[in-house]
Amino acid sequence: MRSVLVTGGAGYIGSHTCLEMARSGIDVVVVDNLCNSRMEAVRRVEGISGKGITFYRADICDEAAMERIFERHEFSSVVHFAGLKAVGESVAKPLEYFHNNITGTVVLLRAMLRHEVRNMVFSSSATVYGDPQTVPVREDFPLSVVNPYGRTKLVIEDMMRDLHRSDDRWNIMLLRYFNPVGAHESGQIGEDPEGVPCNLMPYITKVALGSLPELKIFGGDYPTRDGTGVRDYIHVVDLAVGHLAALRKLEENPGCVAYNLGTGRGCSVLEMVNAMSRACGRAIPYSIVDRRPGDAAEVWCDPSRAMMDLGWKAERDLDAMCADAWRWQQKNPDGYPKD
Ligand code: NAD
Ligand code: UD1
Repeated sequence: MRSVLVTGGAGYIGSHTCLEMARSGIDVVVVDNLCNSRMEAVRRVEGISGKGITFYRADICDEAAMERIFERHEFSSVVHFAGLKAVGESVAKPLEYFHNNITGTVVLLRAMLRHEVRNMVFSSSATVYGDPQTVPVREDFPLSVVNPYGRTKLVIEDMMRDLHRSDDRWNIMLLRYFNPVGAHESGQIGEDPEGVPCNLMPYITKVALGSLPELKIFGGDYPTRDGTGVRDYIHVVDLAVGHLAALRKLEENPGCVAYNLGTGRGCSVLEMVNAMSRACGRAIPYSIVDRRPGDAAEVWCDPSRAMMDLGWKAERDLDAMCADAWRWQQKNPDGYPKD
């Protein structure tokens, strides 16, 4: 059986991807320092899939720990989720982000090089497009940076392109996620942010649950169909399935290629509020406030390269995203039990 190392596999997207990987017969080995996740997520993935997952609690920046993991297993590929991802925090603590995300990736890549593992799927982000001039966003659009978090993603992408240039035996899938939302349909795994959520979907579900009083919509005067911001929300299970397609693609020695993973459809904040009201059967109180600095009016992607090369497209619609997010939230109002 193929072993694949998943860094950050206890996290939101990592846990959903580990589940799809385990179900497809891949031997999953996770390394995670649990700085933004719970071991319980990995246990639940084992429960749903009926498959065991090897788990190492370690920091990817720890070269000795990474070496021990690579000595114990023969990996065919690495799926690299581990990283810090809060934009505001990255502005306040840029060095933490540079160290954790960039140094961590260098340490990981060096371990891969030593052990001749040259297949990598990397969690990049739509943030590498900065504030795009037009939509839909295509992979060949200019790349730019609007905050330190985004800089870590762009630097890592550039590092990976350099690595491939240095030795074309490296195969690297740069997956640029748009806005991952929702949860596994079992309601057993989902997004579990610390404290008050910054992102729209987890905020709305907390309002629906009654643990936050109302949603503040950041800006009602954007040049969009209803004045609110438009994004490309993608169901996290579709995203997880996209990683399986990327892992399969690595077997064809594709080189270093970037893919947009989104639905190709834009959804406004108000449309999301209405969809969540339908899913939970109650009104979501909201008020419209000033724009959030740094937000673009409209960001959605052209996902056709992923369809053409990977044979992948998102299948789940907005109603499924909301129904599944709501099921997870209702079953786990306080997230995972604290270990
Ligand atoms: P998450 O925080 O839930 O998962 C990241 C995981 O990495 C966590 O389990 C955390 O404990 C672990 N981790 C962080 N630093 C580590 C380190 N040094 N060593 C070991 N483990 C470490 O985040 P997520 O939403 O699942 O995101 C996964 C990846 O996808 C991240 O790289 C993120 O930047 C990227 N991404 C996320 C989104 C999003 O909206 N969720 C969008 C685009 C890209
Ligand atoms: C955020 C990140 C971005 C990351 C992306 C993917 C920021 C500034 N950017 O982008 O780096 O790649 O997630 O997950 O955090 N909104 C409200 N009220 C809220 C929260 C959000 O109106 O309480 C609006 C926003 O203005 C935006 C939309 O909802 O129009 C989505 O916001 P959010 O979920 O934070 O995602 P992004 O801003 O797209």
